[in-house]
Amino acid sequence: MVQRIKTGIPGLDSLMEGGLVEGSVALLAGTTGSGKTIASCQYIYAGLERGEPGVLITLEESPEDIREDALQFGWDFAKYEKKGLCRIIYHDPSQLNNLGGIMVEEIGRMKAKRLVIDSTSVMSLNIDNPAQVRRKLYNLITNIKRGGGTTALLTAEIPEGRHALSTFGVEEFVADAVIVLHYVGVEGAASRTLMIRKMRRTSHGRDVYPMEITKKGVTIKHSDL
Ligand SMILES: Nc1ncnc2c1ncn2[C@@H]1O[C@H](COP(=O)(O)OP(=O)(O)OP(=O)(O)O)[C@@H](O)[C@H]1O
Ligand SMILES: [Mg+2]
Repeated sequence: MVQRIKTGIPGLDSLMEGGLVEGSVALLAGTTGSGKTIASCQYIYAGLERGEPGVLITLEESPEDIREDALQFGWDFAKYEKKGLCRIIYHDPSQLNNLGGIMVEEIGRMKAKRLVIDSTSVMSLNIDNPAQVRRKLYNLITNIKRGGGTTALLTAEIPEGRHALSTFGVEEFVADAVIVLHYVGVEGAASRTLMIRKMRRTSHGRDVYPMEITKKGVTIKHSDL
């Protein structure tokens, strides 16, 4: 039987048979400012509150900034880091060769049930050859899946104005699930949306759902909340 991992994002789990498939890798893709980092933090924090160890690898922001930003939503990562249930690790995007190794080591050491890598888009820094970037991403995702015990959310930035699902055009094929966030500014008012583009082994919601960011984090709006 498929075990489900609750994202903890109100309105999202009910759109995907209760949560992400345990042991799967989901891609959270979106344009800049669409809420990828906030949603990923919410996912890790929901696990911590259930006693599930979590590892967040940040390739963009510093762990200090992540902790500080999370506090405005009431998420106190430091508390769980002190308990040894959580690790927020900065990884230099120019040192990608050892990212896979560090990731596997941390997952094992922490017995992490949840993993976030934010963001995969910076993985092309210092690498000119797109095929090499794709290979690295492919290896990273297959490495996570091989472990089996951790359920991962990888963020990817969708370049503005493009009809792409990810930065490099390969992540979505290797990932088990693709969730797309959009942020559209219309005459002063902005509207956020979420769409589940694919989710293996899951009958998922097929609409474009309104999304909100409030002081409690991300919420997805639909009638069967
Ligand atoms: N307390 C809050 N209430 C409402 N909206 C907020 C709040 N804090 C942040 N936001 C919104 O969330 C956005 C940032 O979200 P987040 O950092 O998760 O986006 P991202 O997709 O990770 O972007 P980036 O491209 O910078 O990585 C802000 O631009 C702002 O619009
Ligand atoms: Mg971000």
